Amino acid sequence: MSAQIIDGKAISQAVRDEVKQEVEELKAVGVEPCLAVMLVGDNPASEVYVGMKEKKCAEVGIKAVDKRLPGDTPEEEILLILDSWNADPSIHGILVQLPLPDHVNEKTVMERISPAKDVDGFHPLNVGRMASGDPDAFRPCTPAGIQVMLKHIGYDPAGQHAVIVGRSNIVGRPMATILSQKQPFANATVTVAHSRSRDLGAITRLADLLIVAVGWPEAVTGDMVSEGTVVIDVGVNRVDDETRERGYRLVGDVAYDEVAEKASWITPVPGGVGPMTIAMLLKNTVSAARRLSAVA
Ligand code: GUN
Repeated sequence: MSAQIIDGKAISQAVRDEVKQEVEELKAVGVEPCLAVMLVGDNPASEVYVGMKEKKCAEVGIKAVDKRLPGDTPEEEILLILDSWNADPSIHGILVQLPLPDHVNEKTVMERISPAKDVDGFHPLNVGRMASGDPDAFRPCTPAGIQVMLKHIGYDPAGQHAVIVGRSNIVGRPMATILSQKQPFANATVTVAHSRSRDLGAITRLADLLIVAVGWPEAVTGDMVSEGTVVIDVGVNRVDDETRERGYRLVGDVAYDEVAEKASWITPVPGGVGPMTIAMLLKNTVSAARRLSAVA
């Protein structure tokens, strides 16, 4: 079998078109959706992600407030900025790009963001709401975007075995929560594997749906995948490539060519999950603006 490609660029464009329409409707009743974004330090990958998020906000008409802080900014200063954003009625969504520098406690920062403006869905209140099946909880953008991709290709995970490789709070854990819920385009039997799983290949070969978010290239190779599996590659890794002007290229966590030989569907890197994450962030921001402004 040779896999069909799940085109994250095209699917995310459809989501962004919808969001753009919603932004216009909100602006017509005097609400300008606004996302405040904070980046602490100069992590090059984070700078690229934040730049991309702000560019996509502009394209759909969402205002972005950009706060770049030096890597040695005291935690207290970060918290005070979050307090001012929480209190500012013109700001509807707040995003603090992760990872934060080592001297800053990520948990303290996430807990300071108002749950009503937590468009990343990382505040423990939103994590708990989502885990208990509340459909109104903000859902973390990457797993929510993956579910939209599955809908788009007409793949219903109900009753299927979904294997998630990776247990991060950003992707693996919320993905398991979403896919195991008694809701449309979920209802899967979910296994969460990770770096300490024994004989990972034996587990991944059982997957009907395989979602890989571990953070290293070629973590999943062709021999680890069964024929017909739907494969979602969340990884974005830089590998040296002298043939490229910038000296590197981006690859996922899946050995693409050999896995694509066996999968029924596969996401490319780049152009797969990445654009969906941003599209869902825009969608969450519009939802936050709607709720905070009490627009039905
Ligand atoms: N770092 C990597 N992914 C994300 C994300 O989805 N949100 C934030 N805030 N930081 C990240």
